[in-house]
Amino acid sequence: MDRNDSRRTAPKELSADQVERQRCFAAQVAQMHQSAGRTGENAPGCFIQTFGCQQNEADSEQMAGLASMMGYRITADAASAKLILVNTCAIREHAEKKALSVIGQFKHYKDADPEVIIGVGGCMVTQQHRADQLKHSYPYVSFIFDTGSIHTLPELLCAALQGGKRHFHIPHAEDIAEGLPIHRETSHKAWLSVMYGCNNFCSYCIVPYTRGRERSRMPDAILAQAKELIASGAKDITLLGQNVNSYGKDLGGGENFASLLRDIAALDGDFRLRFMTSHPKDVSPELIAVMSENEKIVRHFHLPVQSGSDGILKRMNRRYTAEKYLQTVTALRKAMPDISLTSDIIVGFPGETDADFEATMDMLRAAQYDMVFSFIYSPRKGTPAAEMPDQIPHEVSTERFARLLELQNAVSLARNNRFVGRTVRVLAEEVSRTDETKITGRGDSPRPIHFSGTPDLIGDFVNVKITSADTFSLNAEIAGEA
Ligand code: SAH
Ligand code: SF4
Ligand code: F3S
Repeated sequence: MDRNDSRRTAPKELSADQVERQRCFAAQVAQMHQSAGRTGENAPGCFIQTFGCQQNEADSEQMAGLASMMGYRITADAASAKLILVNTCAIREHAEKKALSVIGQFKHYKDADPEVIIGVGGCMVTQQHRADQLKHSYPYVSFIFDTGSIHTLPELLCAALQGGKRHFHIPHAEDIAEGLPIHRETSHKAWLSVMYGCNNFCSYCIVPYTRGRERSRMPDAILAQAKELIASGAKDITLLGQNVNSYGKDLGGGENFASLLRDIAALDGDFRLRFMTSHPKDVSPELIAVMSENEKIVRHFHLPVQSGSDGILKRMNRRYTAEKYLQTVTALRKAMPDISLTSDIIVGFPGETDADFEATMDMLRAAQYDMVFSFIYSPRKGTPAAEMPDQIPHEVSTERFARLLELQNAVSLARNNRFVGRTVRVLAEEVSRTDETKITGRGDSPRPIHFSGTPDLIGDFVNVKITSADTFSLNAEIAGEA
């Protein structure tokens, strides 16, 4: 498809002028550090604390890339950093509380060293009441920037270093910034954003307000980045978007998520592809076919159901029924019998009755998920569900939540047991966090697999034989290099 085709409504990419402007600010910041002799070993540290989802992790990699371009050294030590960036999440009240408390703790660093600059980005600050709160109650924060303005970090930092006014304006920008530098922590695993924002407006969810409308990146930009990642050693690439399977709808050029996935899977190289998150209403037969025909696409589908009750699903504005959802599960299992399914569940949505909750329990029994991320409903200011009657008392939600976990843990263990005795190809990802003689990796299923091995394996595919299964992980031994 010609990207200049006048019929298509191409996403608004940042203009060359805007990119150049930020490059100039970045060069000025780098120059300030250089003239103060802060280069090489003496380069100022930049510490980034990330909350929230994979999209935020990907955004933090861009922040780190920009900071590196401006002469900062990325560090895990906040105490020695000259630049502290907090990338916040707003999905539940707990996420916001955690971010605010961490920002509060960083005050000590600023008190000890007035040169420290603290900036706050991410979904939380996109909400006006939080922007105001940071401005008035956190005087040691120099600037905020929303999820669509990450590329303006050089300008914000330049102003802060020159002693300019604190900046608390939220532009709600929805341009796509292509070509930003990216600083990755590991080379073998990579995030690849394919679209931004969400149009679904599930009635409980803050994301459409914090991240704006759906914008798809152009396929050629995504493919070019995928090639770069593979060339630089990425073995496990996760395509990211709040609703990846509606990819392309805004481009008007006939692209869709299935064709994008097919094109990326067709690239040369030994890598595997994951994607998240998919909305159940947008799982097409074409997508299922592309998955089942491509070995490089992992046999895992994260398909959040949220609730098993049709009444609740309707009030959540999810636009599917439990029956329709299970038809999709059946179609996935028919095409890929061993596929791992995972889901998100919200417990205690306003008006949830015992019968509604039992319908969710039935859904867990019917769908047989490998893993479920469950959350107690948290009212989000400005969303329709926060205004709904019959908010559920916390004791009721926590009791339901505990029962749900108990059921799912039993299902997960049974699902994990199916792997025992099998040989699985895993990507060795890291030294086990609980046993340094072990390596942790993953196969297609998102469950961690622990096996005895040495760190030199990290970043390689290894064949392991599964010896036993727990509720949350699998144990294995090396069966020979893949
Ligand atoms: N776009 C993705 C992810 C959204 S956030 C999707 O549609 O699945 C991840 C999960 O957080 C959601 O799937 C939902 O289960 C949960 N969540 C979102 N808003 C919530 C709220 N207000 N309270 C509790 N959980 C919430
Ligand atoms: Fe939120 Fe729904 Fe969009 Fe997911 S699909 S980000 S739950 S509004
Ligand atoms: Fe949180 Fe924003 Fe992700 S609200 S879950 S960081 S999209």
